[in-house]
Amino acid sequence: MNLSTIAREIRVCTRCNLHKGRQRTVPGEGPSWARVMLVGEAPGREEDIHGRPFVGRSGRMLDEILKKAGLGRDDLFITSVVKCRPPKNRVPRRSEWETCIQAHLRRQIDVIDPTIICLLGGVATKALLGKYRLSEQRGRVFRRERRSFFPTYHPAGAGRNRSWYRAFSEDMDKLHSLAQSK
Ligand code: URA
Repeated sequence: MNLSTIAREIRVCTRCNLHKGRQRTVPGEGPSWARVMLVGEAPGREEDIHGRPFVGRSGRMLDEILKKAGLGRDDLFITSVVKCRPPKNRVPRRSEWETCIQAHLRRQIDVIDPTIICLLGGVATKALLGKYRLSEQRGRVFRRERRSFFPTYHPAGAGRNRSWYRAFSEDMDKLHSLAQSK
């Protein structure tokens, strides 16, 4: 099993209803040797058009803050808990993310075997860590199954709120140090 095989399976996936409205699937991108994975919520309009993660407005916010923290996209694997755009960008439902994680994200994690999984926003934090209070949990490291899980705000939230922007920037600085210490 490798990342291209998983991406091919995602492209033809019809396990949940999200496939009905998609233009393209967004499996994620980055090297299979990445030590750090970033996991967002769901593709939006631009991602659905291009089939690439975080290329719309929240992607520009993400790039800006990653760059300030000295992190480059090329060293990270970036994806989301669901690989198809929900209608009108609604929040993905539990049944959708459970199905998608089990079918695809779990296997991506197994192949990449990252040391740190950075969870972007409340949905990813709930889905992968079972934690529900992001404002309390962000910026903290949770050890699970030999990995570090690191929840933080979603870049879209950071774009809307100054204090989340500051917190998200601090968290990306911390992510950079964590990545170097592993
Ligand atoms: N937001 C996400 O959570 N994922 C994307 O790929 C794009 C926007």
